[in-house]
Amino acid sequence: MTNHNAFDSMAKDWDNNPRIIKMACNFADHIKQYVPLSRQTRALDFGCGTGQVSMHLHPMVNSVAMVDTSEGMLEVLRQKLANNAIDNMNIHCGDLFQNTLAENSFDLAYTLMALHHVKQVLPALERFYQLLKPGGYLCIGDLEPEDGSFHGEEMDVHLGFNPTVLQKQLEDSGFAMRQACRMMVVEKPDKNGIDKAYPLFFLLVQKP
Ligand SMILES: C[S@@+](CC[C@H](N)C(=O)[O-])C[C@H]1O[C@@H](n2cnc3c(N)ncnc32)[C@H](O)[C@@H]1O
Repeated sequence: MTNHNAFDSMAKDWDNNPRIIKMACNFADHIKQYVPLSRQTRALDFGCGTGQVSMHLHPMVNSVAMVDTSEGMLEVLRQKLANNAIDNMNIHCGDLFQNTLAENSFDLAYTLMALHHVKQVLPALERFYQLLKPGGYLCIGDLEPEDGSFHGEEMDVHLGFNPTVLQKQLEDSGFAMRQACRMMVVEKPDKNGIDKAYPLFFLLVQKP
């Protein structure tokens, strides 16, 4: 749906945006609050971008597979891993269906603000299910329904998700619901420069 390379040109400034930093911090806090993490946990960050979320979580887990289609975002991440001598985050350039990701191999998958860029949501949910071990958790942080002003016209994306509908799709894919809440409300100026509020939900499901 989205031309992912649009993210290549945003990559350089991604980590300087306070709104993005705040969203990642908040999402990571929700994961820490609701998911049992340990040095055995094998995690997957889908649509990881420059690694904002996983920078908060990687010290608490065994490893994180960092999955993204934007080489530009991943290059910024590579620099951060090198500069901070981080060796438990592994980069996988591509989408969720690439065969470098083994089925039944992750204890935790999480995705922040990436699902609305995925054209076919149901196959993605089913793929998360395949990739997780039995007992594994999936956390989704994303926009509630919005009027299209969040991205403007330059991006062809889902206009947020109704969390209740997404919950039903997750359950139909085999997941059991564990936690659903409004994670935060972000403010972003619209095209007239006036701040607009965009609620984000947090969903936690578990593979039985
Ligand atoms: C809004 S950014 C969020 C990045 C990061 N999660 C964060 O919160 O800072 C969305 C990311 O998803 C990636 N993306 C979009 N569609 C994708 C797909 N089908 N497979 C993998 N990555 C994708 C983009 O390249 C981009 O880095």
